[in-house]
Amino acid sequence: MFITFEGPDGAGKSTHIRAVKEFLEERGRKVVLTREPGGTTLAEQIRELLLVKSAEAMDDKTELLLYLAARAQHVSQKILPAIEAGCDVICDRFSDSSVAYQGYGRGINLGLLKQMNDWACQGLVPDYTFVMLLKPADALARLKKDGRELDRMELEDIAFKERVYNGFLACAEARPGRVVTLDASDAIETNRAKILEFLEGWLETEKR
Ligand code: TMP
Repeated sequence: MFITFEGPDGAGKSTHIRAVKEFLEERGRKVVLTREPGGTTLAEQIRELLLVKSAEAMDDKTELLLYLAARAQHVSQKILPAIEAGCDVICDRFSDSSVAYQGYGRGINLGLLKQMNDWACQGLVPDYTFVMLLKPADALARLKKDGRELDRMELEDIAFKERVYNGFLACAEARPGRVVTLDASDAIETNRAKILEFLEGWLETEKR
C-alpha cells in the first residue's frame, strides 16, 4: 500500500503520519516512512536547494523541475523498491503537492504538469491520500506559534497560500476514491480516529 499525506504548510501532517506507521506495524506490516522533497541522499540535497532562502529569485519552471527531479530519484531509488519488497510506504507529500503548489499556486499549466509528473514518477499513483485542510490564516498562525524560522515556501504571501489551499480542495474533489479530506482544525484525536478507521476498513477488505 502506498499512502500519502498532503496539505498546506502548518496543517499538522506529522502526528498522523507517525500514528499510521505504528498502526500498520502493530498489525505486522513492514512500513517505510519517507517524505518529499527528499527521501534519498540526492533528493534531500535537492530539498535544500528548494527550501533555502536565496537572494536570487527561483524561476517557477526551475522550481517545478527541481521538485520533479527529487521525485524521480525518490520513486526509482526508494519508493518502488520498497513496494516491490512488500513494504507499505507512507510518504509525507507527493504529486498532489506539485498540483497544488506549482499548478494552482504558481499557475503552471495543469495538463503539462500532469504529463511531466507522470513521466518523473513512472506513473506511480498513491492508493490512498489523506489531505489535511487548514485555511491559510490558521495555518500561518500555527507556523508562527512553532517559533522556527520559515523556509522559502512558507514565506510566500497569503494570496499564494489561498491558491494552494484551493488546489488541494480541487485535488480532493477530483479524486474522491483515492483522496480522504480531513479538517485540520478539528481535534487531533478526531482526525486520528477517522484515519485509522479508514485504514482498518481497508485492511478488512484486503483480507477477504
Ligand atoms: P514540507 O515542509 O511539508 O516537507 O514540504 C516542503 C515544501 O515544499 C512545502 O512548502 C510544500 C512544497 N512542495 C511543493 O511546492 N511541491 C511539491 O511537489 C512538494 C512535494 C512540496
